[in-house]
Amino acid sequence: MAFDIEMIKQVYASMSERVDAARKITGKPLTLAEKILYSHLWDGTPTKAFSRGKDYVDFAPDRIACQDATAQMALLQFMQAGKAKVAVPTTVHCDHLIQAKSGAFEDLKHANSTSSEVFNFLESVSNKYGIGFWKPGAGIIHQVVLENYAFPGGMMIGTDSHTVNAGGLGMVAIGVGGADAVDVMAGMAWELKFPKLIGVKLTGKLSGWTAPKDVILKVAEILTVKGGTGAIVEYFGPGATAMSCTGKGTICNMGAEIGATTSTFGYDESMERYLRATDREDVANEANKIKEYLTADPEVYANPELYFDQVIEINLSELGPLLNGPFTPDLSTPVGKEMAEKAAAHDWPMQVEWGLIGSCTNSSYEDLSRAASIAQQALDKGLKTKAEFGINPGSEQVRYTAERDGILAVFEKLDAKIFTNACGPCIGQWARYSDPKNAPKNSIVHSFNRNFAKRADGNPNTHAFVASPEITAAIAIAGRLDFNPMTDTLINENGEEVMLDEPTGWELPPKGFEVKDNGYLAPKEDGSDVIVSVDENSERLQLLAPFEPIGNSIKNAKLLIKAFGKCTTDHISMAGPWLRFRGHLDNIANNTLIGAVNAFNQKTNFVKNQLTGEYDAVPAVQRAYKAAGIKTVVVGDHNYGEGSSREHAAMQPRFLGVAAVIVKSFARIHETNLKKQGMLGLTFANEADYDLIQEDDTINFLDLNEFAPDKQLTVEFVHADGSKDVIKLNHTYNQAQIEWFNEGSALNLIKVQNAK
Ligand code: F3S
Repeated sequence: MAFDIEMIKQVYASMSERVDAARKITGKPLTLAEKILYSHLWDGTPTKAFSRGKDYVDFAPDRIACQDATAQMALLQFMQAGKAKVAVPTTVHCDHLIQAKSGAFEDLKHANSTSSEVFNFLESVSNKYGIGFWKPGAGIIHQVVLENYAFPGGMMIGTDSHTVNAGGLGMVAIGVGGADAVDVMAGMAWELKFPKLIGVKLTGKLSGWTAPKDVILKVAEILTVKGGTGAIVEYFGPGATAMSCTGKGTICNMGAEIGATTSTFGYDESMERYLRATDREDVANEANKIKEYLTADPEVYANPELYFDQVIEINLSELGPLLNGPFTPDLSTPVGKEMAEKAAAHDWPMQVEWGLIGSCTNSSYEDLSRAASIAQQALDKGLKTKAEFGINPGSEQVRYTAERDGILAVFEKLDAKIFTNACGPCIGQWARYSDPKNAPKNSIVHSFNRNFAKRADGNPNTHAFVASPEITAAIAIAGRLDFNPMTDTLINENGEEVMLDEPTGWELPPKGFEVKDNGYLAPKEDGSDVIVSVDENSERLQLLAPFEPIGNSIKNAKLLIKAFGKCTTDHISMAGPWLRFRGHLDNIANNTLIGAVNAFNQKTNFVKNQLTGEYDAVPAVQRAYKAAGIKTVVVGDHNYGEGSSREHAAMQPRFLGVAAVIVKSFARIHETNLKKQGMLGLTFANEADYDLIQEDDTINFLDLNEFAPDKQLTVEFVHADGSKDVIKLNHTYNQAQIEWFNEGSALNLIKVQNAK
């Protein structure tokens, strides 16, 4: 069974009563986000109004989705919880561990042989605990979820930051760490700080070369990578309803790039069309019965500034195509002249070497058909493409249908590589170079979401620009970063000047979706006899042991690293080749913080070991402190831990003996992950105190025995010359989270509670 209509009916049955109660309690009309949040309270019908950005609230999500890289640790943790079955419908999707190199057939074969141990583990755990399993090649988690599980008005969590993609089908879908997912799988509530609300009013209509991707590229420019932190972004207005459901998915998907908790759209006809096209007539029929509950109250969209914390308005008729990058998704430049000027000023390579289309962001049938309409023109007009093309379809259903309809053949005629229906080049799983570290400076354009250094191919010199699939196709054909398809001509094989016409495509396949084997394996009804085995000598998988509590006496701790500038989860726990160790904590811990820049020497993976005075790799130095029984502290800058939801970024430092992370500010998911693992995630009360931290510091927590909600902590930094700075630190721990710290981790606490 692909989705559970009975579960959806239950959600809808209680929605009206809960939303009506919330409206009464708050005394105002409700946004869609509030309707979904208030109708998914753990305690049922709302009895009090919550303060946005302040109150921690317990929720009861309807679904969980996990991808293969994060599922390993999540399921290893779930196995520790002592349950027979997951408490909430859950699926596992094998999409991250598949390298893109030669093309789908070869690459999938290679993945199935190199990662068989992990895939078999995930399949058997899924089978045992009642989890739906999507095998390698079935598709990218978020596209598969949109096609099969997302439903208007639902709440979902997923162990991947782009879980937010399901907002395109009117959900509140939120990326969480594996530890949060484990709580919900184990039948516990899921806690979230009640988000703030940002309204984005879309007026006008997309046309010509402008695509839904440009909407979110524009929003990223306006809000920056931090602007959505702690907020749900709700899109509305005529421009929103005129857009396809998968286009809405693209916009919600990249909400992760502005740090938003999630993004969503109200139920409309595009969603109904999509539900019917993806074989979910019954969901559409049920949704139609409670339509008014699946979008905001009319007063909200009429006077948004009264009901949202922030309102942005974008006129789609005036929006043009954008290229965002390099190295950050919020650096936005209109295609053409402005890009030419910026690229020259910043020495960005003008020649474009690859155009990559796909990823969970832009791999729908509509995306592929519109990009193919541009590619077809290269064939028709005698243009030789200057850059190489790589395509990764979002799901087997999309791939099969696109192949049937001749869309993939168009790209193949341009010698495109059709990669597996998987993440591939989007997550550093692109075997582009034999030695990426020493690879040349170059530019690529892709329709993905992230473009941090090394993200696609491991080459720090690759300048990756994010664009819509249609602009990616046009720029790949032209081979120039400053190409503007609306004004510029290209010279074809006959020496003639030709222009590319505007893209065309289909929102949904005119002949309907089709697929032979969608790659889904249903779990056994009773999995009690399924044996999950993990080889003790495995390099890839390791059963977990519970963490010992850190305790409330942290004295004579050492500074491990003072990270300078951006420190994302990729810097803390790098992806790429390390993905293979996601299920083996000891092995993957050897990449801990190797991407973080040491503020004292501006180098990566080169920190002072205070015990020897020598400089060494971060994991080696940390292991030396651990061996000596010394606790350590990591110091960081703003938005520390932005990027993905991977709890490895918290578990690895925890495993190696880091006691506290002290930063100017945190990305939400990472802060929660640190708490879940029983660590201290703290922020400077006075940001400037970051500058006081010195390389040889010894650190004493002075009042950790009084750790309590809303109470600052005091920490003494003793410098090498004997002088001291005593500083105040803020934290956001509530009482329950302090219990996690006291027990050693959230999972330890679940076990204690289970045992009672
Ligand atoms: Fe995969 Fe990239 Fe999306 S890693 S889930 S395609 S963000």
